[in-house]
Amino acid sequence: MTSPLALPVLDAALEARLSARMDELELALHDHVASEAPFVTEAARHLMEAGGKRFRPLLCFLAAETGDPSAHGVLTAACVVELTHLASLYHDDVMDEADLRRGAESANARWDNHVAILTGDFLFSKSSELTASLGAEAVRIQARTFTRLVEGQILETLGPGPDDDALEHYLRVVAGKTGSLIATSARYGAMFAGASDEVVDALTSYGEKVGVAFQLSDDILDIASDSEESGKTPGTDLREGVPTLPVLIARKSEDPADARLLELLAGDLGDDDLHAEALGLLRKHPALAAARDYVASEAAEAKRLLRALPEGSVRTALETFADVVADRST
Ligand code: IPE
Ligand code: IPE
Ligand code: MG
Ligand code: MG
Repeated sequence: MTSPLALPVLDAALEARLSARMDELELALHDHVASEAPFVTEAARHLMEAGGKRFRPLLCFLAAETGDPSAHGVLTAACVVELTHLASLYHDDVMDEADLRRGAESANARWDNHVAILTGDFLFSKSSELTASLGAEAVRIQARTFTRLVEGQILETLGPGPDDDALEHYLRVVAGKTGSLIATSARYGAMFAGASDEVVDALTSYGEKVGVAFQLSDDILDIASDSEESGKTPGTDLREGVPTLPVLIARKSEDPADARLLELLAGDLGDDDLHAEALGLLRKHPALAAARDYVASEAAEAKRLLRALPEGSVRTALETFADVVADRST
């Protein structure tokens, strides 16, 4: 039942090991996401079984290749990061009033906000229970990660204060809501595999940068892709009034040809026609290319952090991982 990896890996033995681990992950996730109440099991498995790239566990397994990848704790840590992520998706779709997730109905659309919020809580509790089996240090890291994720989501909802720079605020949000958990995915993998402190630290910083690039790519895709490709409704950020990198760049334009776009971006895009017009204008705006350049520079910085690792197939695969994240939005 080996499934294709979301990452091209040149080394065949490494690829086989990662694929086998990803298969183990699926079985373990299925077992962990179960409740005595059949409805809770159904609601919690709904998005888990709808799909998902499993990027965070894959990064955890890859980072574990810097030490002993079969060491105790690595598989559990991979489950922890995916379940935390999954929990955050249930809550995020309530916040973003999103109807589509992983190509399926979001939990809030299929049931309601109460079910989506409580199912997210249930998944987060499952993830915490598993983390407890990994020891106090893992619990501390997980708690800190979730604090940052939640702070990022709340800061996004609040928007920048009157004295805040909009781009700085946005980057803070992105680092919190997404960089934090992807950094922890890499950190857990290296840590439980027994890698040196130097390697654990380098991979944590790498994960944070890759995580930021990942969210920036996702925000570009929210404008540039269709729902076939993303499994989500395009233009959700615009509709919700969340300015992302392409919008922040476009807003700085002084080109008179952009007057209409800037007027639309300054207003409420809840109306279908106005929303479609703004999305159409943004899709052909040079701000998209500028945002992609920014993502590429973040990915390049992430790769530079890997110099702390010995050269070889694992480092190459981690470099490719950063490239895949950046290329996603091109
Ligand atoms: C979606 O994450 C939320 C973001 C942080 C951008 P993913 O793109 O990893 O979602 P799945 O797990 O593949 O559905
Ligand atoms: C999601 O951010 C971040 C978390 C779930 C923590 P977004 O709102 O941009 O992600 P999508 O586009 O819904 O996946
Ligand atoms: Mg969302
Ligand atoms: Mg959101």
